[in-house]
Amino acid sequence: MQSPIGIFDSGIGGTSIWKEITALLPYENTIYLADSINAPYGEKSPEKIIEFCIKNTELLLDKGCKLIVVACNTATTNAIEFLRETYDVPFIGIEPAIKPAALKTQTNNVGILATKGTLSSALFSKTSELFAANIEVTEQVGKGLVQLIERGKLHSDEMSKLLKKHLNPMLVNNIDYLVLGCTHYPYLIPQIQNIVGDKVKIIDSGLAVAKQTKAILEQYQLAKISSQKGELHFYINTDVTVLETILAEVKSKITIQKLEF
Ligand code: DGL
Repeated sequence: MQSPIGIFDSGIGGTSIWKEITALLPYENTIYLADSINAPYGEKSPEKIIEFCIKNTELLLDKGCKLIVVACNTATTNAIEFLRETYDVPFIGIEPAIKPAALKTQTNNVGILATKGTLSSALFSKTSELFAANIEVTEQVGKGLVQLIERGKLHSDEMSKLLKKHLNPMLVNNIDYLVLGCTHYPYLIPQIQNIVGDKVKIIDSGLAVAKQTKAILEQYQLAKISSQKGELHFYINTDVTVLETILAEVKSKITIQKLEF
């Protein structure tokens, strides 16, 4: 099926998921929405997050998308149930990968870095109770990180100070696995690894989401049967510069447009 896969996030972070999806499914057409004007979702109420998700979903459906990837932990944990009940297309979401961390930990301590909206969601509590009831979990709100990434301050003193502040309580608690529960954070992996050291393994769910997308496309017979590389379109409702910078290495293969939504 030629119709595109729709992907959205509160901003540019979900491009970490988009990269995994297009690497695994290079022939699929994709449309990515960066709702940067409303970032961070993580500080908003569940009602507001659902409202943003409806707006993004309806725009992607208007553009003919056959499946939607909610490339945002905050949006998934607060709104995916509603989206699945309301719309007919399949939805793929992303949640903090607490299960693999809980299964692998040797120190019985794992860390989760995520937004306030994710950590306070009912879905996250349910997942934690189910998979992490017998281990210690240090939950940390990554306050301020998304805003700095959206402002293009990935490599700044401010970022490194903030990361040290957020990660220190986890190191004090002797974590051996750190779960990244926000799709903006994979862009911080080299800096995070530097702070936590080699003994702490970082888990992010980007590849798992791409594999799930492939499986669902096959299950619903929605995959594009063609050997022509996919068309890759991006829409952002703020200035395009930060998105262009983060996607610089694939610049020649994509289009980026500013759009009001
Ligand atoms: N990328 C979003 C996530 O995965 C960022 C959340 C936000 O906008 O606060 O949670």
